[in-house]
Amino acid sequence: MKINEAENLYYIGGIVRDEILGTKSFDIDLTYVGNAIDFVKKLDDIEILKINEPFGTVRIKFNGKETDIASTRSEIYEKAGHLPTVTKIGCSLKEDVLRRDFTINAMAKNIKTGEIIDYTGGLEDIKKKKLRILHNKSFVDDPTRIIRALKFGVRFNFTLDENTEKLRSEYLKNVNYDMSYKRVKKELIETFNLNSQKAYDEFCNAKIYKLITTGNINKPEINIENLVDKYKSILNENNIWLIYAGTIQDLANLEPTFTKDEQKIINDFNAIKDKELKNDYDIYKTFENIRTESILLYALLKDAGTAEHYLNNLKDIKIEITGKDLSELNIPPSPEYQECFNYILRKKLENNSIDKLCELELAAKFFHDKI
Ligand code: CTP
Repeated sequence: MKINEAENLYYIGGIVRDEILGTKSFDIDLTYVGNAIDFVKKLDDIEILKINEPFGTVRIKFNGKETDIASTRSEIYEKAGHLPTVTKIGCSLKEDVLRRDFTINAMAKNIKTGEIIDYTGGLEDIKKKKLRILHNKSFVDDPTRIIRALKFGVRFNFTLDENTEKLRSEYLKNVNYDMSYKRVKKELIETFNLNSQKAYDEFCNAKIYKLITTGNINKPEINIENLVDKYKSILNENNIWLIYAGTIQDLANLEPTFTKDEQKIINDFNAIKDKELKNDYDIYKTFENIRTESILLYALLKDAGTAEHYLNNLKDIKIEITGKDLSELNIPPSPEYQECFNYILRKKLENNSIDKLCELELAAKFFHDKI
């Protein structure tokens, strides 16, 4: 049998939504009504790459592209806020879509006929630009959906329908902190890496940060989106989310999920935030070896003027002479080399027109005065 002739195979979720919206999809999700693993074994125009028996999913290669096919499945949330448990593989399409997050993500399209199956009113909600959960316990089962709503809201310019907003606000007043912060982090990354002040304002105003902490957020006066845009070329775009999340006062729940790099961005900011910076030399020495992400946190939470002065005016000032130049002046290597470099740096921060020749003169003067 050929894959496109299969009667019970459907595009599902994001790809159906994106086609209706006319936007580009990140990935193709297919679901088979029945057991997908048994099904793919009957196909003769695909290659089976990987089978995941307990979840009933299979990765195939078709027309040179890799795609996952899932079996329709029903799930229950045995432990609210954690991954659900599969209760049945090969359930009806309707049961499969009813376990999902929003109506706009619960539509299927038959691969053979092109028919759209919409049990929950997703098409109508797309027209109304609304995000609507499928049942009243949806956020209790999976609070990451609150952040997902923020993400889809920004991506498609949708808002929550009235009941969904009410249930979100009820959940946020009574958060169950026993949840998978790995999943929370994944959604925070996907949301805040979109670099949207609008999403951040809603994160603060609707108190969505309560999913992460019982404490508060230090909402900066300045617009984070504009600040990030300004310095995008000198930061790692995968870390933008941390500039937003770093404004949450207590990150203890998220910290166990941090990579070394992410932890360093937070630690470096904490290490500099209370330093007294009296002049350009202090500013330069404080910021010179830390990442732009930590400096932007300083801009947001401490002093934007100082941080931006460093990034705009001081960051690229570098002394040109090296140890080799000093030894060519017949100065024997010693820890005084570093003192000399710092002396020249101070002078250069006061007057950036100092060139290499002037630096050599300053070095000669520095060692002469020492004698
Ligand atoms: N889903 C869900 N609850 C979650 C995560 C996912 O119900 N917490 C369901 C949704 O039906 C979603 C599908 O699983 O459409 C696939 O999830 P994901 O790949 O994260 O989202 P997409 O809708 O494909 O969106 P994206 O464009 O971001 O990939």
